[in-house]
Amino acid sequence: YVLGVDLGTSAVKVSAVDRSGNIAAQEKFSYDLIQKQPGYNEQNPEDWVSGTTVAIVRLILNDQIPAAEIKGISFSGQMHGLVLLDAQNKVLRPAILWNDTRTTQQCLEIKEKMGAEFVEITRNEPLEGFTLPKMLWVKENEPEIWARAATFLLPKDYVRFRMTGKLGMDYSDATGTVLLDVADGKWSQKICQLFEIPESMCPPLIQSIDDVGNITPNYAEFSGLAEATRVFGGAGDNAAGAVGAGILSSNMVMSSIGTSGVVLKYEDSADVNYHGQIQFEDHAIPNQYYSMGVTLAAGYSLDWFKKTFAKNTDFTDFVASAAKSTVGANGLLYTPYLVGERAPYADAEIRGSFLGVDGTHQAYDFVRAVLEGIIFSFRDIFDIYKANGAQFDTVVSIGGGAKSPLWLQIQADIFDTKVVSLENEQGPGMGAAMIAAVGLGWFDSLQDCAAQFVHYGRAYEPNQDNVNKYNRIHAIYHQAYEQTREIS
Ligand code: XUL
Repeated sequence: YVLGVDLGTSAVKVSAVDRSGNIAAQEKFSYDLIQKQPGYNEQNPEDWVSGTTVAIVRLILNDQIPAAEIKGISFSGQMHGLVLLDAQNKVLRPAILWNDTRTTQQCLEIKEKMGAEFVEITRNEPLEGFTLPKMLWVKENEPEIWARAATFLLPKDYVRFRMTGKLGMDYSDATGTVLLDVADGKWSQKICQLFEIPESMCPPLIQSIDDVGNITPNYAEFSGLAEATRVFGGAGDNAAGAVGAGILSSNMVMSSIGTSGVVLKYEDSADVNYHGQIQFEDHAIPNQYYSMGVTLAAGYSLDWFKKTFAKNTDFTDFVASAAKSTVGANGLLYTPYLVGERAPYADAEIRGSFLGVDGTHQAYDFVRAVLEGIIFSFRDIFDIYKANGAQFDTVVSIGGGAKSPLWLQIQADIFDTKVVSLENEQGPGMGAAMIAAVGLGWFDSLQDCAAQFVHYGRAYEPNQDNVNKYNRIHAIYHQAYEQTREIS
């Protein structure tokens, strides 16, 4: 077996996967967020280590996965979170997470100091979620802690460190720190110097499939794993999710609906440059990349609407009710900016809207408008791809959007592209397991592994009549951003 550790924001999920790509067992352990004030989101790295270990112990003891048959482990990790270690590698303060928004001031400072050059080096605009602004926040607000900081890591790197005793950060997650010179593949000396971050704080860079070493005897004793268990680098959760969905060639795009939504495209060269309009990150394969745009309130929009207006309806029935409406929700339009928006606007202030409300509208028109509005926000990202000449022919839908045939068809029609879902979707933990499987040499490449592990279901083809209707409505949707900015 290989273990795929999916270190998320609310829980860690560990999957034991066999050589054919079947999940033999899965264990989950939840942990809390520490929210000291609005906008602050922290977690104790120790909770990640103990949660992961409890899940592994349960796999061995409760699910009877023989420890001696667990050959390798790898990781998918929540991205961007700042873990600061002192010279003895002890954690200095709770980790500041990707969804913590306290760093607006630091993002402005970065923009003022470096402007477009920052985006050219890191391929990303400085956004609140990323790691460098968090480091600057600690430096400015907790100088006594900063003075003792010797190393920084991202969440899953800390868990890997505790298993192996080795410090390292894989490229896919390192890009999300915005301290990496992406084209160069090295920590940016220029950024380190300008913001007075000692380069010695940056951990060694590794590849996702790199063999980091065996687990320590100490961790073997603690977890029940065999000392021969090998540990591989792993990837940030979006890269690992892409691996698990088979996004491993440049004709593939992923459309993912969780609380937030992600449109992610495989990129085979660092020469592609979206100039910070969307995020650009290293993939889990050396010198391969992905770009992505994030919609902050994707599944969250639907959850909010259901909780507020249809609390007692079954969730599947609630989504299916949208079939009673029409393409374009009988003239009702929704923009999903409930908590601001990341792509394509990076605007924390904008708020959502229902437009075109008519006295004849029914609840199911509102549900349909929400389903469509989320996909219109994804379409904005597709339009950035189109404007940059990107070519692709398949969209793989994962998460909430893949659970409803109606929503899959809406995606095909709004994207005007073929959409497929996965037969047995397992999320980023499967990508982590695939990384370990390739690291162990079970397969020559992630692509070979995907051919065995990843299976697609039915394809949804765009309906030209609907495509035309949605093109017209999306043009109106797109204007709604400018027209509604002043409301908030
Ligand atoms: C990506 C991002 C989130 C986290 C969630 O930039 O902030 O998707 O990776 O863990």
